[in-house]
Amino acid sequence: MVMAYWNKNWEVGVDAIDAQHKRLIDLFNELHDAMPAGIGEEKFAKVLAELKEYTVYHFGVEEDLFKQYGYADAAIHIEAHKYFIQKVDGLLKAFKSHEPEVIRETFDFLKDWLINHIVKTDKQYVPFLRSKGIK
Ligand SMILES: [Fe+2]
Ligand SMILES: [Fe+2]
Repeated sequence: MVMAYWNKNWEVGVDAIDAQHKRLIDLFNELHDAMPAGIGEEKFAKVLAELKEYTVYHFGVEEDLFKQYGYADAAIHIEAHKYFIQKVDGLLKAFKSHEPEVIRETFDFLKDWLINHIVKTDKQYVPFLRSKGIK
């Protein structure tokens, strides 16, 4: 079952970034499918690790664009990226030690953070990139 359907409101309007965000949402949906008890914690951990890896790649793309074009608000945006990776690392660790509630907590965190970050924080850099001719 799909948990989060990609929709126009989530588009930032930079093609490469939108494609990467879509991939993140796909991974998020995969994670949702792996959540019910019985399907297997292993699958959940595997998708979570994949999501983290892809997010690191995606954040790198954004941060390279900030650096390349001299985005003034880069520092605060990069802090948000760092926070996310640290949080996911912590959840992966908790997951490995079989702490209860980690699956739910992980899912809720990702749902709030990912969509919020895409819709609010990422959209803030778009006018800047557009002014540099990126689309
Ligand atoms: Fe992003
Ligand atoms: Fe971002």
